[in-house]
Amino acid sequence: MNIFKKNSPQWEKSEILREIKEFRNLYEKRPIKNNKHGMQFQHMFATYFILKKFKPSFVIESGVYRGQSTWLIENTLPNTKILSIDIDLSQRVYISNKAEYSNIDFKDQNFSNLPEDTLVFLDDHVNHYERLKQAKFFNIKKIILEDNYPDEKGDFYTINHAINKKGFNHNYTKSSLFKTFLIFSNEFLKKLFFKKYIFKLEKIKSRLRDYPPNENDFKNIEKNIKTYSEFPNLTNIIDQNLNLSKEELESYNHLTYIELY
Ligand SMILES: C[S@@+](CC[C@H](N)C(=O)[O-])C[C@H]1O[C@@H](n2cnc3c(N)ncnc32)[C@H](O)[C@@H]1O
Repeated sequence: MNIFKKNSPQWEKSEILREIKEFRNLYEKRPIKNNKHGMQFQHMFATYFILKKFKPSFVIESGVYRGQSTWLIENTLPNTKILSIDIDLSQRVYISNKAEYSNIDFKDQNFSNLPEDTLVFLDDHVNHYERLKQAKFFNIKKIILEDNYPDEKGDFYTINHAINKKGFNHNYTKSSLFKTFLIFSNEFLKKLFFKKYIFKLEKIKSRLRDYPPNENDFKNIEKNIKTYSEFPNLTNIIDQNLNLSKEELESYNHLTYIELY
């Protein structure tokens, strides 16, 4: 696979190895021991490492799920303000006393007055191209993409898909497509019979994640990107004496740090 890089920060292997040792103590204290469908060791470490490097005064997290990433951000940067967004906050197992929670989508928040050093951590599996355009609009420059799935992998359109210019074909189950059809029909009927009803297109759009190939996407992204760096897969850099299990190391989805102009 073609790995794109631009002005990658110089993160030395020795520094990464040193930080892993420190991170392991924190990792042992994580509130959700088996975070299936959520963040695992590799990406938790990469996020910890990047957050420590930049120490933003405000972090916006989109995609809370059970709350492991909220806990991680809070414990990596105890003095940082956190806004944690998820359209379904009922899934939380860990609830922070410090973070502010919201179920309003990132693009619909009031970001009229953000600190210059704000960082957004995106783990909501929403089209990366759309999210980058929204970050640009809000003048948010620092971005962590939790899952930057490569070609033909994942469940939404990522920057890696845009780089490879093949679009994204989501592998829906028949029952999922049928459910989308029912949601659409329900909205359609409400609109047909109630004049004042506002059609909730988002409900349908978020379920339909196919994206046609468009070779212009990456040209537009590239022009706005100052820094683009995939965090290395730890299996390529650790040595034996770190005693990390295969399980801890197996999940790696190209977590990427981006800085926009
Ligand atoms: C992969 S999980 C997040 C994992 C989490 N960061 C962790 O630490 O384990 C994705 C989450 O994104 C949420 N989500 C889906 N659409 C969203 C949206 N538009 N805005 C915010 N969250 C969204 C889902 O409800 C789900 O909880």
